[in-house]
Amino acid sequence: MAAIVSTNCPDLELIGRGKVRDLYRVDSQSLLFVATDRMSAFDVIMNNGIPNKGKLLTKISVFWFDFLKGVMPNHLITADFEKMPDKVKQYRDQLEGRCMLVKSLRVLPIESIVRGYITGSAWKEYKSKGSVCDIALPAGMQESEAFATPLWTPSTKAEIGDHDENIHPSKVPAIIGAKLAAQMEKMSLEIYTKARDYARERGIIIADTKFEFGVDEDDNLYLIDEVLTPDSSRFWPAATYTVGATQDSFDKQYLRNYLESIGFDKNTGITLPDHVVENTFAKYLEAYKLLTGEGAQF
Ligand SMILES: Nc1ncnc2c1ncn2[C@@H]1O[C@H](COP(=O)(O)OP(=O)(O)OP(=O)(O)O)[C@@H](O)[C@H]1O
Ligand SMILES: [Mg+2]
Repeated sequence: MAAIVSTNCPDLELIGRGKVRDLYRVDSQSLLFVATDRMSAFDVIMNNGIPNKGKLLTKISVFWFDFLKGVMPNHLITADFEKMPDKVKQYRDQLEGRCMLVKSLRVLPIESIVRGYITGSAWKEYKSKGSVCDIALPAGMQESEAFATPLWTPSTKAEIGDHDENIHPSKVPAIIGAKLAAQMEKMSLEIYTKARDYARERGIIIADTKFEFGVDEDDNLYLIDEVLTPDSSRFWPAATYTVGATQDSFDKQYLRNYLESIGFDKNTGITLPDHVVENTFAKYLEAYKLLTGEGAQF
């Protein structure tokens, strides 16, 4: 079972390769959003992929787009491969199960992060300054504790090779305009809260997550990109959750911990050993099963 780390579809116009996705233009209105099996951590792409991870990420995003469709519009046109144009279908071997036909939108240059629990870089900042992304917080919080209400901690979207930069929420209006900034904050918190409550019942704590938004020519806001996946979120098993400690996880944290344990330089991708590839996939699969209640065959 080989990982698909790069797609090659010469009849479609390649408009970009992100760390994980290949993006093609299909026509003036639509794009093909392809989740490869590339694995990134600390913003570095690893040498080898995680076979079928792109298919799992696609299934998870499609699940959430459906779950959230009553809350706000999203970019998904279809993920049903049979409904795709013929010029897409000719690449079935590479693309089936890992692509979504999406609306072509103007991407807003903000990573819209919502944090429900204090962990990772937020915990580090809190310990040294008592704040998270310069938002002052009450004293005495413990690692992994839930915030009284979820925090919106946007960052700027970096160019490839750069790291995203945290900004205070008050800086967002100057970048995308006051109206869209207010909408983005409101929708991010609403979507996070709805998903958090659902996932909690299924045994997963969504500690934090990152959304992206786009706008059409009339400045209508859409939820875009991937949504609430283990690549874009921290998923903790609710069963073992304890305040005051680092949590187990169903997400990229396992890989980050492995990389830290071997002294990874966070600059150059390495080849992940088989057991790390397998364990990473197993975590993602577990998250998918718990969230959707479905098994997945690969
Ligand atoms: N509907 C859309 N229209 C145009 N661009 C989109 C749309 N949805 C998502 N995108 C963009 O497609 C790219 C997806 O690629 P990918 O997820 O690999 O990027 P990345 O953000 O570099 O990686 P990572 O997710 O690891 O941070 C992102 O730059 C995202 O902003
Ligand atoms: Mg991305």
